[in-house]
Amino acid sequence: KGKRAFIAGVADDNGYGWAIAKSLAAAGAEILVGTWVPALNIFESSLRRGKFDESRVLPDGSLMEITKVYPLDAVFDNPEDVPEEIKTNKRYAGSSNWTVQEAAECVKNDFGSIDILVHSLANGPEVVKPLLETSRKGYLAAISASSYSYVSLLKHFLPIINPGGSSISLTYIASERIIPGYGGGMSSAKAALESDTRVLAFEAGRRKGIRVNTISAGPLRSRAAKAIGFIDMMIDYSSANAPLEKELSADEVGNTAAFLASPLASAITGGVIYVDNGLNAMGVGV
Ligand code: NAI
Repeated sequence: KGKRAFIAGVADDNGYGWAIAKSLAAAGAEILVGTWVPALNIFESSLRRGKFDESRVLPDGSLMEITKVYPLDAVFDNPEDVPEEIKTNKRYAGSSNWTVQEAAECVKNDFGSIDILVHSLANGPEVVKPLLETSRKGYLAAISASSYSYVSLLKHFLPIINPGGSSISLTYIASERIIPGYGGGMSSAKAALESDTRVLAFEAGRRKGIRVNTISAGPLRSRAAKAIGFIDMMIDYSSANAPLEKELSADEVGNTAAFLASPLASAITGGVIYVDNGLNAMGVGV
């Protein structure tokens, strides 16, 4: 039988989440996505109006189907966590059941179970500030949206992940090497995400035999990356210095996610898998 995937962090057709959805769909998986509440209306209406149809084409010529789009805000675990100003915000008031716990419950009610959980989201409100200028609030917000969001997602979805299932997140090498410009505590958040990948691999592995890995991806001109401001420079730097001189395509990350979610990767867990044209292996620029 086909597998079912829930991909958190898809709001357009430019990011890694979309590419992962496509690779999983091409491999026969049913696709559910979680979309950030403020981006939900535009994403759903663009889907409906056919704006993404060109990007939906799979290798066999068919169009990727997204079975259901769930509203999600991964910085809130349950309704008690949601402050009044968010509850009454007009971008949120039109949607319901978008905390992590509620989204997991909705998926359970609709489909019973999933096989693949993907976390492809991050947010750091002070990402353009150097760490030395980052406020406590900004730093904690980066960790909340980019790291704890994954702990929470896995915690709430684990009960409905089928045996043999697996989970994948996206990280960036700024966690372990200095990347000036990736600020606001985002480098710290990725370091936490990678460490948590190991601990969660142990806990989810022992509890349910579920595998947990993270893909350390090279630079992609996504919406989130454009907000950081240095993405074109990072892409040029990679082309100039990586072992493979080509530009990285989101599909290459999508295909790695499909591999990691498949039985071909049945002994791979707790890993940071680089999909970056090999840039991580360089010691100096050339
Ligand atoms: P993207 O903009 O396609 O994806 C980020 C998504 O996170 C957006 O859809 C946004 O709506 C969503 N989001 C933000 N806050 C949220 C919240 N509180 N709840 C739910 N959703 C929320 O951009 P991209 O770059 O594809 O990002 C996906 C992942 O890939 C992120 O973890 C990012 O750090 C990682 N990554 C990106 C790289 C790049 O160069 N673009 C390089 C390495 C890792």
